[in-house]
Amino acid sequence: MNIRTDFTEMLGIDVPIVGAPMFLVSYEEYVIALSEAGALGTFPLPNYRTTADLKQALQTIRQATGRPIGVNIHLSGRFPWKEQLGICLDAGVSFYISSLGNPALILDDVHANGGIVFADVISLAQGLKAREHGVDGLIAVAAGAGGHCGMLPTLIFTPYLRQHTGLPVIAAGGISTGAQLAAALAVGACAAIVGTRLIATHEARAAPAYKQAVIVAHPEDIVISNEITGTPATWLSSSIADFDEQPAPQSKRWRDLWSAGLSVAQIDQIKPVGEVIEEMVQTYTQTCQHLSQTIHP
Ligand SMILES: Cc1cc2nc3c(=O)[nH]c(=O)nc-3n(C[C@H](O)[C@H](O)[C@H](O)COP(=O)(O)O)c2cc1C
Repeated sequence: MNIRTDFTEMLGIDVPIVGAPMFLVSYEEYVIALSEAGALGTFPLPNYRTTADLKQALQTIRQATGRPIGVNIHLSGRFPWKEQLGICLDAGVSFYISSLGNPALILDDVHANGGIVFADVISLAQGLKAREHGVDGLIAVAAGAGGHCGMLPTLIFTPYLRQHTGLPVIAAGGISTGAQLAAALAVGACAAIVGTRLIATHEARAAPAYKQAVIVAHPEDIVISNEITGTPATWLSSSIADFDEQPAPQSKRWRDLWSAGLSVAQIDQIKPVGEVIEEMVQTYTQTCQHLSQTIHP
């Protein structure tokens, strides 16, 4: 069963679900499983230390699937983004999530290769700035999202951005079921990014104890703190309790402190990626059928 939106048409995918690019979690096997399930598999480029590692990873993905894939590209001086972009374009990566830096830097090259660029934003001001830079769409990173999170609830922020920017908007934050996907599409999202739900999958490269912590956690166990990376982010309180508060490099913090969003409320089993997507599509369909039955002219 397919779910069609402007986003699925733009990219040629079956369902409007983007498997989130997650630092130290989303690698080749995760991307392959998502894209083969009809969703869009993505990974963050900083997961690979060298461009040779990145090339190798994309080769592995491309040997397993010819379906669309995406990446999160960091456009700050800290990363060799030009070289990374060239490698991604050569491998046919068609979806780019830009963070840090000016997305205009990559737009022409991506467009020339038939791809699109969306920017992560947590405020309308950031959304308007990204629109000025010419992006194709926005990712509404809302309150309670895994990783760096926004402040506005998903069902408020998504239509707010859509109304005031006119751009396609992907909802991010708190979406792990088909009913939540239906709610996001109902308020105008063209797709949803799913992160936290996908940590608890066989294909995620999170430590087994991390996956276990996601399935036992309640939303009350999620802490929002800007003290760990300097920007508000969501963390499993159990991992903070275990962490020795010494100054440490950021990457070590992401490894030893476990990020997860409020979606833990609906996650109670570690499953294969394909099953998660299939269930979301199934419960999306049931939700739409159920809602249509509430209408009595
Ligand atoms: C452990 C973890 C790492 C993340 N790393 C990144 C990243 O490197 N780049 C990025 O664009 N988003 C990252 N995110 C955010 C996700 O892309 C996505 O916006 C978010 O997980 C959606 O909210 P949800 O977790 O409630 O589904 C990360 C999220 C988590 C949970």
